[in-house]
Amino acid sequence: MNTVTTVRELRAAVAQARAEGKDIGLVPTMGNLHAGHIALVEQAAQRTGFVVASIFVNPLQFGPNEDLASYPRTLADDQKKLLDAGCDLLFAPSVEEMYPQGMQSQTIVHVSGVSEGLCGASRPGHFDGVATVVTKLFQMVQPDLAIFGQKDFQQLAVIRTLVRDLNIPVQILGMPTVRAEDGLALSSRNGYLSPEERAIAPQLYRTLQWLGEEVRGGRRDYAQLCGEGRQRLTDAGFRPDYLDICQADSLRPAQPDDRHLVIAAAAYLGNTRLIDNLEVELASAP
Ligand code: PAF
Repeated sequence: MNTVTTVRELRAAVAQARAEGKDIGLVPTMGNLHAGHIALVEQAAQRTGFVVASIFVNPLQFGPNEDLASYPRTLADDQKKLLDAGCDLLFAPSVEEMYPQGMQSQTIVHVSGVSEGLCGASRPGHFDGVATVVTKLFQMVQPDLAIFGQKDFQQLAVIRTLVRDLNIPVQILGMPTVRAEDGLALSSRNGYLSPEERAIAPQLYRTLQWLGEEVRGGRRDYAQLCGEGRQRLTDAGFRPDYLDICQADSLRPAQPDDRHLVIAAAAYLGNTRLIDNLEVELASAP
């Protein structure tokens, strides 16, 4: 596996792979790779002939008071994991390489609709940063397939929408969330948790599972139900940011007749913001 840091080297390596008749898979990441990322790379290796992973902690998607400076950077470890997972090329650019004109004058990709609620409401500008960097990566690599985790459910919806709206010729694949044995969704931010917080953290997914059971059991009073879910989180020691039941495609608030739902939550433990979600598919009414 080669590591390149410039767009010129990246394009040359991808062109070489294409000339050899290989199709191209892309797994964009911010590094500090865990088993969830590795599952994406392994899937890309099964489906495509040449796998590119990117590691770039994208300043454009962090708010002024967020964890850009402290976000874990573990390149040497990540390189070993990518090699074992079957990655062919790592693109690990600098901020200057990605934003040579600076970030102030960078063209911004804004995806309306799906980017507005949930994390979009609590993290203004976050999805503009994600959509912009992912669009740039798509233009740089021109992959046939790009793979993202479903833990970032709204991010995946934003990326699917931008690909559709901008006619980008890439297939998007979402992969199931990888969880620790106690149910906590794997995330690079889990490393910020103290032992006490780590012991509480699985309650986030348990609360989503409880809500899922209530919905499958027939409850449709979603506002009341989410209030009860938020209370459970608070009682467990979280500071809930949001907990909503949405239509899975549009991410608009779910209505009683909707069948494909996502229950999505973000909550703080200390300074650490965790997100998770649970999809619920209800049988069609007879
Ligand atoms: O999910 C992430 O790690 C990031 O948001 C992504 C998609 C790599 C864009 O920076």
